[in-house]
Amino acid sequence: MKQVFTGIAELYTPRERLERAALAVQDGRFVWVGAEADLPEKYRGWPQTALGGRSEGPSAPGGRRYLGVVPGIVDAHTHLVYGGNRLGEYLQRARGESYEAILAAGGGIYSTVRATAAASEEELYELAAARAALFLAQGVTSLEVKSGYGLEPEAELKMLRVIRRLGETLPQRVFPTLLAHVVPKGWEREKYVAMFTAELIPEVARSGLAEAVDVFCDQGAFTLEETRRILEAALSQGLKVKVHAEQIAHTGATKLAAELGALSADHLEQSTPGDWQALAKSGTVGTVLPGAAVILRKPFPDARAMWDAGVRVAIATDHNPGSSPLYSPWLGMQLTMSLGRLSAEEALIAHTENAALALGRKDLGRIEVGARADFVVVDSGNALEALYRWGHTPIHSVYIDGNHAMARPSAGLPL
Ligand code: NIG
Ligand code: FE
Repeated sequence: MKQVFTGIAELYTPRERLERAALAVQDGRFVWVGAEADLPEKYRGWPQTALGGRSEGPSAPGGRRYLGVVPGIVDAHTHLVYGGNRLGEYLQRARGESYEAILAAGGGIYSTVRATAAASEEELYELAAARAALFLAQGVTSLEVKSGYGLEPEAELKMLRVIRRLGETLPQRVFPTLLAHVVPKGWEREKYVAMFTAELIPEVARSGLAEAVDVFCDQGAFTLEETRRILEAALSQGLKVKVHAEQIAHTGATKLAAELGALSADHLEQSTPGDWQALAKSGTVGTVLPGAAVILRKPFPDARAMWDAGVRVAIATDHNPGSSPLYSPWLGMQLTMSLGRLSAEEALIAHTENAALALGRKDLGRIEVGARADFVVVDSGNALEALYRWGHTPIHSVYIDGNHAMARPSAGLPL
């Protein structure tokens, strides 16, 4: 497939800004990116798409519209597969009850585990696919999806099968992760960690059901020592690793992630300058999750200080039914601008190029020769208008591998 895209008023690569740009795409990758006026002769005969359409009738006075373009949004931390919802808990927390107390009382994550166990694989698939369709409409072209609401080994595998099916059927790229979330009720901790490391991780590596392993290292979840054992088992099986780090308590998980060469350390609400130095040195991405920080009323991670310390900062939705029922990466970027003090341009980099690095991919989240041709067309000549408007994101269209991406129809289940 060969295609040239024109009609671009402003394009963020995301590190550079181009005006009146054009893109040439071949076989799903960008082969040329630059100013429309400089489009080389060899691409001029290729089929052309003017992204804002051609001048047709009085609705487009003065000809075609020139629009903004940014890279496909990458969401490197989601818990998209789950049954039920936690509205009741959300209302309780809004009245002042803590996330930690609800979890310790057997609610929180455990309540989603029960609802997920009660749902069929088919139902979990339909629910997650419908959520993914909403993400696509927001410009999310790649997303990581974690297990972690199964806990029991067979239930974790069920979640991972749902995630594999999402990857096979959705227009988006899906990155599956096995998550060690909490110790299930009725298990002795040591036995669970032993099962996880000696049975579940090898099984997942063998079957290819996950590319990475994540651990919720925190108060009420796994200790630093248990986290190390799980992540080392994952590495020994050739899987990539990442951590839920320093969300509720400061545990040292960020430094462990840096030491083990993890893809990312995520959350970071309680992280310290020492943690940031470790991340900067190792190249492990520091992912802030604005939904969870704001909704749980935790300190907002100091994205500005992290960025200035040399950390590759990413932003993700952490979409889940408990701490972050967030469907909008744009709101996440806006919160990180206001509360984490990133510039708009930095926030965009954090949800595209840097987020792709958190998936181990240099060919996603950027508009440059050789990268996958995933991009978002903003319904304005100013690409960053999508960050300016709160609660209404002007998205015109979304492209994956150079193809106009369309969501599969929803089964109409309540999300
Ligand atoms: O990333 N922190 C732990 N895990 C999720 C929340 C899961 C839940 O509350 O269901 C998170 O915030
Ligand atoms: Fe999470």
